[in-house]
Amino acid sequence: MPAAAPLFNPKVHLAYQKRKAILTMKDIKLDPSPISQVASTDPFQLLSNEGVKAFRRELFSKNVLENCSFPTRPGSVQLRGMAPRYAPFTYQFWTSLEVLGIIRDLAGVDLVPVFDHEIAHTNIQLGPHGLDGVKDTPSKKETSKPVVPWHRDSYPFVCVVMLSDTTSMIDGETEMAKGDGSTVKVRSPTMGGAVIMQGRHVSHIAIPAGNMPERITLVTSFRPRDPIIVDDSSLMNVRTKSLLPEIYYQWVSYRLRLLGERFKDEADKLNARYTDAVALTDEAKPGFCRKETVDFDGLTNWMDEQMRYMRQTLFEMRPVTDEDNINKNYIPRID
Ligand SMILES: [Fe+2]
Repeated sequence: MPAAAPLFNPKVHLAYQKRKAILTMKDIKLDPSPISQVASTDPFQLLSNEGVKAFRRELFSKNVLENCSFPTRPGSVQLRGMAPRYAPFTYQFWTSLEVLGIIRDLAGVDLVPVFDHEIAHTNIQLGPHGLDGVKDTPSKKETSKPVVPWHRDSYPFVCVVMLSDTTSMIDGETEMAKGDGSTVKVRSPTMGGAVIMQGRHVSHIAIPAGNMPERITLVTSFRPRDPIIVDDSSLMNVRTKSLLPEIYYQWVSYRLRLLGERFKDEADKLNARYTDAVALTDEAKPGFCRKETVDFDGLTNWMDEQMRYMRQTLFEMRPVTDEDNINKNYIPRID
């Protein structure tokens, strides 16, 4: 298949301004995370005006609206799973070296989108009167109740990008729970701006924004690129807003490939120990190694971990029930 035409141009669509303001897990008095010590960044500029326009053009295209819309409540809709099929620019953007480099620098760990279906999950809030109400200005009172209660995300990291003009916006911060029971607020990004957060490990709530005729945010979820790093991704909260056959295919496909890489890595480590052992004891001649190279306890722990990962892979595809809609704080864990 010929390569897709380049639609994303970093020189045109990015306007990244390096920001080093970062809240660490320690800053908010939480236990260290096995993935990164970054809890959240402050808002930083990511997109140029051209970048904002390119996303809005593609996300509001006929194909995306017709195929990828999941209504949530009156006046709100989510767009999901559009990339790459219906949104080639969006796909190129979120898989580009430039954007992944920025994310890595800020998150403190090399990340990749969890899978294609989680690229550019789009939240669209049009106020209480839907599309007809775009010209109105919803009052703060009308939008002051959080849509989603305190929760942790399904995936390790998230990058949220603002695609609406926030000039007149009231509120709209993200509030995070600190380890000492208090909370801290992170400002909302302005148009073209973004925030990166370790949403799986930090409990948080989105404070509704008021005084905005529309609010459109792009949410892309990430996991560590290195397959050896802990991956505690889950499908909670996303299954009722997804095309299940497609998301299950993508979920199982990435889990199997990740497991394959872990098994290969473990076999390579064993091989290296064996090579060292025969070099020390048997003139580097393999075939009759008398030195122990299999660490039985270590292997037991490693295998237990992989089996847990495999069981979790299946568990996340259990039949969808009311629990999937209602209990946003539920963190599926199996032993
Ligand atoms: Fe969240």
